[in-house]
Amino acid sequence: MDHYIVKGGNSLSGEVEIAGAKNAALGILAASVMTNETVTIENIPDVSDIRAILKAIQMIGAHVEKVDRHCYRINGSMISRGSAVDNDYVRKIRGSYYLIGALLGKHRCASVALPGGCNIGLRPIDQHIKGFRALGADVSLVSPGMVVAEAEVLRGSHIYMDVVSVGATINIMMASVMAVGQTIIENAAKEPHVVDVANFLNSMGANIKGAGTDTIRIRGVERLHGTNYSIIPDQIEAGTFMFAAAATRGDVTIRNVIPKHLESLSAKLKEIGCQIHESDDELRVVATRRLGATNVKTLPYPGFPTDMQPQIAVLLGLSRGVSIVTESIFENRFKYVDELIKMGAHVTVEGNTAIIDGVEKYTGARLSSPDLRAGAALVTAALAAEGFSEVHEIHYIERGYEDFPEKLRRLGAEIEIIETEEEKRKFMFRVG
Ligand code: UD1
Repeated sequence: MDHYIVKGGNSLSGEVEIAGAKNAALGILAASVMTNETVTIENIPDVSDIRAILKAIQMIGAHVEKVDRHCYRINGSMISRGSAVDNDYVRKIRGSYYLIGALLGKHRCASVALPGGCNIGLRPIDQHIKGFRALGADVSLVSPGMVVAEAEVLRGSHIYMDVVSVGATINIMMASVMAVGQTIIENAAKEPHVVDVANFLNSMGANIKGAGTDTIRIRGVERLHGTNYSIIPDQIEAGTFMFAAAATRGDVTIRNVIPKHLESLSAKLKEIGCQIHESDDELRVVATRRLGATNVKTLPYPGFPTDMQPQIAVLLGLSRGVSIVTESIFENRFKYVDELIKMGAHVTVEGNTAIIDGVEKYTGARLSSPDLRAGAALVTAALAAEGFSEVHEIHYIERGYEDFPEKLRRLGAEIEIIETEEEKRKFMFRVG
């Protein structure tokens, strides 16, 4: 199987361009079939989760035309009401649950296979279902793993979310844009991609106000129309490069970002001794020495994102002193710690807390990615480590990072995708 081989020890330096946000694109591509007119979407990241949702909507009847690597034209007029959405692509990715909200909102009827995605905990969808029911839909879970949601009429409702959920907020927004009357979502998620999906829907004629705050108000409109839209930059890809720069004591300018979306990350990096230089759509991270320790707890936006938890743990594993990382969003998100320990890290996990006693250096090892973000974090550890590492199960990383090894190589990293022992020997011979 393909895996990465990495020779660690080089400080990353130079410039890297960030792709469009995967999680925003998943919502936007699902929402794109809600109109019968054509929509053109730009800045779509070329990653396997996105290729899967594009295939999924194509297989249920959408016309999907590739304009270029990052731009697609989509027309959902041929999707027939009532057809079941179940194919290998739908079951592969968690984001396919957005097709429930999109098709329920458009046809008042959706039958969609339950989502897959990263194995980082139980990840229920009870809040999505609660929202659909509040709008007047009958929702049932039928075998084999299908969610069926139907309504004669969808009526706006006042919905209070029991937990802050990105997925449920976006799904309820989509289900309610063409409902009769006003929907209010309280305790809504405020993540940048919630705002991006709302902006996209508004550009199609929806009337959504307050996205990015705790309370979102949606006034139902009769229909949605075509649009041209460009997706925001990926906050987590940007953050991963910021932390990779810091872990390798590098100097990296991260381009095509919205610095405001990265504030919780910049603040932590500054706190432990990094220099951060911000401009309109760029951010430069400079780390010239060993960084300090800190405590961090993952929280919904604008708090520290759970999707950056493995990356900060890798960095704190090399910092001076003891740090505590608390995961408050997902259980089961410390599976990468065993891999990090193989590299010489001193980490103890107690429940949802990791206690990290920083070491001077990691040593290269054979590593396996347990999920998307942890996989990227282990690559960061390998880049900072002394000697050679292999990172396996890279299909997880490819779900969310476009051209990851290529971008790292341009920053001076020694990393390659290989399959055979022969390729490994060649790499080791070349890099010495
Ligand atoms: C999205 C992101 C994921 C990110 C996460 C949190 C996508 C495709 N994925 O996942 O990368 O890690 O936000 O920022 O955008 N919960 C419930 N009931 C529900 C829904 C969620 O109890 O119906 C809980 C979850 O178990 C979790 C918390 O709410 O503990 C937050 O989950 P949520 O924000 O929904 O995450 P996702 O949308 O699945």
